[in-house]
Amino acid sequence: MKIPTQASTQQMLRAHNADLADPLFWQLPRSERLKAFALLRGLDAPVLFGESPGSSRRAGRTGKGFYALVKHADVMEASRQPRQFASAPGVTTPEPAAWAKAVFGNSMVNMDGTEHATMRRIVSRAFTPRLLAAAEEDIRDVARRVVDEMLAERPCDFVPSVASRMPFEVICNLMGIPERYRPEIADRVNHASENVGVRRGVRARLRVPGRGLRALAHMQLVMAKLARERRRHPTGDLISALVRADIDGQSLSSRQLGAFFSLLLVAGVETTRNAIAHGLTLLTEHPEQREVLAADFEQYADGAVDEIVRHSTPIIQFRRTVTTECALGGREFRPGEKVVLFYASANRDEAVFTDPDVFDITRNPNPHLGYGGGGPHYCLGSHLARQEMKALFHELLTRPRDLRAVGIPELVDSNFDNRVRTLRFAFEPS
Ligand code: HEM
Repeated sequence: MKIPTQASTQQMLRAHNADLADPLFWQLPRSERLKAFALLRGLDAPVLFGESPGSSRRAGRTGKGFYALVKHADVMEASRQPRQFASAPGVTTPEPAAWAKAVFGNSMVNMDGTEHATMRRIVSRAFTPRLLAAAEEDIRDVARRVVDEMLAERPCDFVPSVASRMPFEVICNLMGIPERYRPEIADRVNHASENVGVRRGVRARLRVPGRGLRALAHMQLVMAKLARERRRHPTGDLISALVRADIDGQSLSSRQLGAFFSLLLVAGVETTRNAIAHGLTLLTEHPEQREVLAADFEQYADGAVDEIVRHSTPIIQFRRTVTTECALGGREFRPGEKVVLFYASANRDEAVFTDPDVFDITRNPNPHLGYGGGGPHYCLGSHLARQEMKALFHELLTRPRDLRAVGIPELVDSNFDNRVRTLRFAFEPS
């Protein structure tokens, strides 16, 4: 479908409930949202949602307006042109408050150029395939322990007992967070990100004022304690790498350390947890795919975990800000305008994926953008996430009998992550 003008496009989109700037859109069933994305991909150029920055002092309903990049090619191009499409001042919608950055430190996801590269280099070595190969046995060991406990305790909710536990224990091991701190951090990780992109009702706001901010403050405190310990007794873990970092003769400040600590924990746990939970649902809903995987795990595991990430797309979107006049996807952009990269739409782009709605673990090639569209911010933990998912699904498919999701997962209405709140599950002990 080709729609020529912004006015008629807006009319047509309203008729299909496809206003991506309206929080109500993010409360629609996922199938409806995917239909809206398909409609948008059929248009000639990215569409503006909300008000254009600078066009009015009254901002759009979710803050400033943005152009939606919904095609695979456009998301890739914007990701790989960081000079024109910057991550500063922030990649989430709405933008984090300036005071929050001042108090809790800025995360490297919101930085550009040398500043970003310098920060990323401090931790990137630990995430290379070579060093992760050395962590392989530890990752398998965590998967075995998580499934041992699952078999012994027979929990009902897959999310806290299995899907969160796996990435949480692995990232804590990599960072070198001692066991004694883990219980208090586990809940905080969840709270720190639970409201990104979520429209909260007044009652919820009153009941838990600033729970996310309190969680960040607590993590900062724990990081400060650990930093003191590691300065005295450095080891080979990530926290030691952070306290050892030297940027033009300066070490990282306590705010910078705190920002790293919460970024690595939140980015490392929340995304992978949601991918694992969606993975169990997908394998339950598609028993024929599960049979293929179980019959030859070594051959199909890589394809399965990538297809789980493509199909579920745990991170729905990241935003960029235009820095210079430029063109993309058939539209001209001016400095200050916002574009939102919808990975959830790019991963269903029929121009790239045959039968994009079908879950097919043998899909090859599978150039999904679940970990980003390339460029300097490409997911630091993509190899780690793949390793974790493979190790865990291996245990889940070989040890209990008939492990399955029961009922429909309870999802969170969010424009940022495809978050699973709870997922009931069942199995027979082997
Ligand atoms: C299935 C699991 C995961 C998914 C779907 C995912 C997705 C993403 C996406 C979409 C981005 C943004 C890329 C961009 O802006 O171009 C990102 C960035 C990032 N991810 Fe992941 N991620 C996952 C697992 C992990 C893990 C296990 C870690 C471990 C710490 C991690 C750490 C990061 C970090 C630090 C960044 C920011 C990189 C930067 O700004 O330079 N992620 N991830």
